[in-house]
Amino acid sequence: MTPRTHTRLTDPLSEVRDLTGHRAIVTGGAGGIGVVVTRTLAAAGADVIVGTRGTGRAEKIRETLLAELRAPGDRIRIAHLDLIDADSIRRFADQIGDAPIHTLVLNAAMSSVPFGRDRNGTESQFATNHLGHFTLTGRLLPALLVAPDARVVTVSSALYPSAKLDLTRLGDHAEYSPGRAYIRSKLANAMFAIELNRRLAAAGSTARSFGTHPGMARTPLHTTYPTALTRAATRTLAKVIGRDPEPASVGILAAALSTQVTPELFWGPAGSRRHPDALGTPYASPATDHALAAELWSVSENLTGIAYLSEAVSSRTRVDHEA
Ligand SMILES: NC(=O)c1ccc[n+]([C@@H]2O[C@H](COP(=O)([O-])OP(=O)(O)OC[C@H]3O[C@@H](n4cnc5c(N)ncnc54)[C@H](OP(=O)(O)O)[C@@H]3O)[C@@H](O)[C@H]2O)c1
Repeated sequence: MTPRTHTRLTDPLSEVRDLTGHRAIVTGGAGGIGVVVTRTLAAAGADVIVGTRGTGRAEKIRETLLAELRAPGDRIRIAHLDLIDADSIRRFADQIGDAPIHTLVLNAAMSSVPFGRDRNGTESQFATNHLGHFTLTGRLLPALLVAPDARVVTVSSALYPSAKLDLTRLGDHAEYSPGRAYIRSKLANAMFAIELNRRLAAAGSTARSFGTHPGMARTPLHTTYPTALTRAATRTLAKVIGRDPEPASVGILAAALSTQVTPELFWGPAGSRRHPDALGTPYASPATDHALAAELWSVSENLTGIAYLSEAVSSRTRVDHEA
């Protein structure tokens, strides 16, 4: 049942899960908000594996974080991951292996780039931000299912309610808008977070899936916009209303760490620019369209060739129909 009320946590990290000996994975964990997530999980005792395309650059960040935390070298590891490339995701997951994964943070994203497609013809932001993470989660699922109370934290955007998702037009170049395609991928992230949680519960797993967002954050994300005008506009907006990566991450960190969060709400920052609360809000339309979410899941399975958690849902539906 979706809670109808907001939940506001003024000090969300005052009560956290004990992450000692836990394994955590952060995609895009060596840039922007991802660095804050990597640092916080490692500081809480988790062994963190960072998925990144820029392993050389990430190694330098790893060294800085380890020195800051005075942590042993294996507390943070770097592994190559390109979410638009199914082979890269498979190699990454093979390296991770079957040992329990307690926290998976699906944070990486490309934003508002010129039109492109993955090798199957799907528009590249949808392919990277949604399908890449869908595939990765499927490949890592056995390791998530053997960890007690594992959490999958997907980073979406508070702008998702303004997106439209037409699953028959995922490769269309006509009428392509970089911004609209980005928001569409973020709607898919929110729907995936909800649907994954539903399917994990239906399968009887203790793992849970959380949807989150950072509000507007001052990170390199806005530097990839296609025109000088949109780059300047978003930079200015981020300067005026945005938060630095650390406060912007509060909802994401709450979802990964806090004992007070519930997966039925969408978690982000609220209030103060420097010391925001974590605010859980009920999901809004179109993310709450269960039929569309089920269709998105099935289209994602077809496009990626990775199918998971479908049996639990179809048997539950059969039971619901029989009752
Ligand atoms: N900044 C905002 O205002 C804002 C607002 C709403 C939502 N968000 C969301 O917050 C999350 C973090 O974004 P950010 O602001 O921290 O931006 P960012 O600094 O640009 O970080 C995004 C990371 O994604 C990784 N990435 C991009 N394409 C990838 C690919 N093909 N394969 C693997 N990794 C890839 C990059 O890592 P490597 O280059 O190391 O591979 C990059 O560090 C994203 O999901 C974004 O959509 C941000």
